[in-house]
Amino acid sequence: MKKVIGFIGCGNIAQAIIGSVIKSEVFSVDNIIASAPSLSSREEVEKKYGIQTTEDNKEVASKSDYLVLAIKSFVYDAVLKEIKDYIREDAIIISIGAGITSNYLMENLNEGTKFIRAMPNTPILVGEGMTAFSTNKTISKEDLDRILGIFNSTGKTEVIDESLMNGFTSLSGSSPAYIFMLIEAMADAGVIEGIPRAKAYTMAAQAVLGSAKMVLETGLHPGELKDNVCSPAGTTIEAVASLEKNGFRAAIMEAIKVCADKSREMEK
Ligand SMILES: NC(=O)c1ccc[n+]([C@@H]2O[C@H](COP(=O)([O-])OP(=O)(O)OC[C@H]3O[C@@H](n4cnc5c(N)ncnc54)[C@H](OP(=O)(O)O)[C@@H]3O)[C@@H](O)[C@H]2O)c1
Repeated sequence: MKKVIGFIGCGNIAQAIIGSVIKSEVFSVDNIIASAPSLSSREEVEKKYGIQTTEDNKEVASKSDYLVLAIKSFVYDAVLKEIKDYIREDAIIISIGAGITSNYLMENLNEGTKFIRAMPNTPILVGEGMTAFSTNKTISKEDLDRILGIFNSTGKTEVIDESLMNGFTSLSGSSPAYIFMLIEAMADAGVIEGIPRAKAYTMAAQAVLGSAKMVLETGLHPGELKDNVCSPAGTTIEAVASLEKNGFRAAIMEAIKVCADKSREMEK
């Protein structure tokens, strides 16, 4: 029998994972089930992905071999109370809620339930996600390998100590938002220069994509790659100086810090 992956909650991040595992054929549409309270959310997901949905969280829990908790952190208490007696004996819970700690999960799931804490990001949808896992004594090496096998099809994965999860949430889980803002701002500037808007988005996004690939594939320090673009007395160094003057790097570092602080604050 094929394994079933279930999602409690089918919002932004659940849909990114659902889209990716279907695309990479790790699960077929018949082996994916998701729940959400509102009919409009369920209809949207059924239409987009062709998977089965239900309003009954217990049904999802009782059918899933892998159960992704894709709900907001404040909904966890009620949902875990509702589903914990319906989780299959050998199922693995994949908890992606920001600030939901292993201690919390241990206390709010039945004894013996396997769970792992994960932090994905939405680029999973296009196979370029970054997901970190922090493991615990309920998860065997084989369980971890199976989970990594699923998520490796959605991008890159790392196993990290749980103490790094707040930092990772901020650096990776939330960071697509910062990059989208960068792309939007670059494109706006392109429009000021007369470049048509649609083309400006493509140009800005491709510059971000290519630069990220260079960091990953050349192994060169980002500072060296930046230096290579800056000809003496050229155009680029003018832009770099302006970014420094306006606190570009400090703004990004501060944003990632406050995001990690918020994640620490939300911890339960
Ligand atoms: N978005 C990201 O990039 C990202 C990345 C990493 C981790 N996360 C984490 O993932 C979780 C979900 O985030 P999201 O951005 O996907 O949120 P979202 O788009 O708001 O989706 C939340 C989903 O939960 C459903 N829901 C609400 N109450 C429920 C209940 N009692 N039982 C079952 N489903 C319920 C909602 O259904 P309705 O539509 O019917 O209300 C919706 O489908 C959060 O804990 C977040 O920290 C998100």
